Amino acid sequence: MKIAPSLLSCDFAAMGSEIQRMDRSGADWMHLDVMDAHFVPNLTFGAPVIKAVRAYTDKPFDVHLMISDPLKYIDDFADAGADIITFHVESDSDIKKTIKKIRDRGIMPGLVIKPNTPASAVFPYLESIDLVLIMTVEPGFGGQSFMSDMLPKAAEIRRECERLGADVLIEADGGIGEATIAQTARAGVDVCVAGTAVFKAEDAAKAIAELKELAECRQESSFT
Ligand code: DX5
Ligand code: ZN
Repeated sequence: MKIAPSLLSCDFAAMGSEIQRMDRSGADWMHLDVMDAHFVPNLTFGAPVIKAVRAYTDKPFDVHLMISDPLKYIDDFADAGADIITFHVESDSDIKKTIKKIRDRGIMPGLVIKPNTPASAVFPYLESIDLVLIMTVEPGFGGQSFMSDMLPKAAEIRRECERLGADVLIEADGGIGEATIAQTARAGVDVCVAGTAVFKAEDAAKAIAELKELAECRQESSFT
């Protein structure tokens, strides 16, 4: 299981050193939540901030765009140093054009689905993306409760990928911590975003190691 700490829960006055701390603590990817106060009722940071903190780690930057018109800003996030860009299937941009734009900039494209959006919404795009991000909370804020009824979407997406011969990673985001990571792993998720669980822990390295261990145990036991 890969763990992607969500910087939404970091100390924003020290974002660079927070990224270094996550790097040292065993984070696999850095998850950066971009919100525009339009697509979601919250406002965070944009490409200039991501560009400013890019040099603090070599780990992949997983940029989650919760914005109404992602297509317009792909170049900005590419220039800022994104490695993965995920955007919402519910956004207003032309989905195929946005995927192509991300791909043309040499970045991994991914689609995100909100809790009320069925897994089938991403089926038409599975052969052209590298990642599907399943929201396990309503997007907008950290620290919300995990929605376990979202997990069957992972198997649905996996089944369709197998049918198409598509190679796609599945990521889950929202409310993931010690109490919820095992079931998430068992559902077939490859990458877990964790904000509160990692940043509010006393020892981030220990928290990440524990999350990985819980995910592994459950993966093994699911075959018995
Ligand atoms: C919510 C964001 C998440 C969030 C996760 O809109 O996409 O990445 O920050 O935070 P926790 O792990 O606290 O739910
Ligand atoms: Zn996110």
